[in-house]
Amino acid sequence: MEMKKVCVLGAGLMGNGIAQVCAQAGYDVTLRDIEQKFIDGGMNTIKKNLGRDVEKGKMTPDQMNAILSRIKPMLNLKEAASGADIVVEVVIEVMDIKKKVYAELEEIVPKHCLFFTNTSGLSITEMAAVTGRPDRFIGTHFFNPVPVMRLLEIIRGHQTSDETLETAREWGKKIGKDVIIVKEAPAFVVNRILCTMLNEAFFVLDEGLASAEDIDKGMVLGCNHPIGPLALADLVGNETLLRVVEGLHRELGDKYRPAPILRKLVRAGNFGRKTGKGVYDYNK
Ligand code: 3HC
Repeated sequence: MEMKKVCVLGAGLMGNGIAQVCAQAGYDVTLRDIEQKFIDGGMNTIKKNLGRDVEKGKMTPDQMNAILSRIKPMLNLKEAASGADIVVEVVIEVMDIKKKVYAELEEIVPKHCLFFTNTSGLSITEMAAVTGRPDRFIGTHFFNPVPVMRLLEIIRGHQTSDETLETAREWGKKIGKDVIIVKEAPAFVVNRILCTMLNEAFFVLDEGLASAEDIDKGMVLGCNHPIGPLALADLVGNETLLRVVEGLHRELGDKYRPAPILRKLVRAGNFGRKTGKGVYDYNK
């Protein structure tokens, strides 16, 4: 069956990027969030990203307008999800909230609709179990910034069907991503390694082994990383990183204990670039 309409739930950092790449691939997209300010923020980011591509001569203004016209921002869940072939859920990384959204969605979407969850590390199987379609449920983990990062990590839940896996794989290719298929486990593959490394950078900072700038410089120049681990934590969001590390700690034990300074930053509301302050101050 041809998939035409994609509903993206959540217009934040990841959601607006996913909506953009879907619209660029020709899908009709609805982009839904719970407050107008989140929708406006998401649409502004998409316009800014596409505008940059126009300035660089990578696309024409007409192409940009055609992409934008395929994205319908909205607040109403029923309107956004009705008739969707695929729902990509990008709501906050709290299991109970995600489950609540799926219970509501179940009443709205057509029977054939597939549920793709973008989660940094929560159990696909647990979310799928509250829906009436665990076979049509799969994890699609994107990386920030979504339009730039090539990887799509696809995670199969316990009851995900082969057909759903193949559809997700094809969809990933169509939206321009390289796909890896991984088994379900806490934080999957990439975040298990990456977030553990970022957490370790916070321990190193806590122990006073070097300044934040030098820790980042060390990893950029010594390991050829495009950006240092502390700057990357600010890009991803320290609150998101903490949630992933807490999940690893809960499920896999003490080896994954969150660094105290990471907790402190999150308690202070210093989430990173999105709040203007994290490890670094972006207001300067
Ligand atoms: N949105 C869209 N495009 C962006 C962007 C954004 N937020 N930020 C940068 N770009 C584009 C630029 O326009 C530029 O495009 P061009 O090549 O066509 O000119 C290109 O990316 C490079 O950008 P810049 O020259 O401005 O800056 P950098 O070379 O420093 O690259 C970066 C910025 C791409 C963010 C780079 O630092 C990088 O790759 N960092 C690592 C990112 C990473 O590891 N992401 C994964 C995070 S983990 C995650 O998301 C999982 C989650 O579950 C925690």
